[in-house]
Amino acid sequence: FPEKPLPIVDPGGLVALNGRLERCRECPIGAAATQAVPGEGPLQPAVMFVGEQPGEQEDLRGRPFVGPAGQLFDRALQQLGVARETVYVTNAVRHFKFELRGKRRIHKTPTQQEALACRHWLDEEIALVQPKKLVALGATAARALLGRPVAVLTERGEWFERPDGLRVLVTLHPSALLRMEESRQEQGFEGFVRDLGRVWAG
Ligand code: URA
Repeated sequence: FPEKPLPIVDPGGLVALNGRLERCRECPIGAAATQAVPGEGPLQPAVMFVGEQPGEQEDLRGRPFVGPAGQLFDRALQQLGVARETVYVTNAVRHFKFELRGKRRIHKTPTQQEALACRHWLDEEIALVQPKKLVALGATAARALLGRPVAVLTERGEWFERPDGLRVLVTLHPSALLRMEESRQEQGFEGFVRDLGRVWAG
């Protein structure tokens, strides 16, 4: 027998949440984006990964981490022998924020106000999905999950406990690896995989 009764999981609640998310206009980003991007993955997963916000590809396809950063993330999971379908993946901010340069849409970091406006979606999602652990990919996610500014480069690879008892591992955002000089990318990727490995190490 399990030591504690299993918590009640409410998949209907998540469907309703994502229905409300589709119509969200609580900050200005939503009006310009193609669509809101909900999280995806199984309920009660071993881990929920939280990114910053959808990128160009995610905005067009309506799914998190399917663009270049997502491919790098998938490669890291593969290296750890973890199937992407077994983890839950979501974002701190649910719409793509961009600046138009000609016809190109260039990623813009969300402001703290925009991230705060989006916070309740993440809080509600965590309550419904009930992950066992959380991983913050980058500073925006780390701040949303821990409620304080986080210096990712010095706090990466460490676990922090939230008031609700959930533990959060902080690491880089995979986009940060893509922005590194080519000669440093492989080493950067290895460090990222090492950080993520700690999720399954305990
Ligand atoms: N970057 C993110 O933070 N999230 C995505 O879904 C894609 C890129």
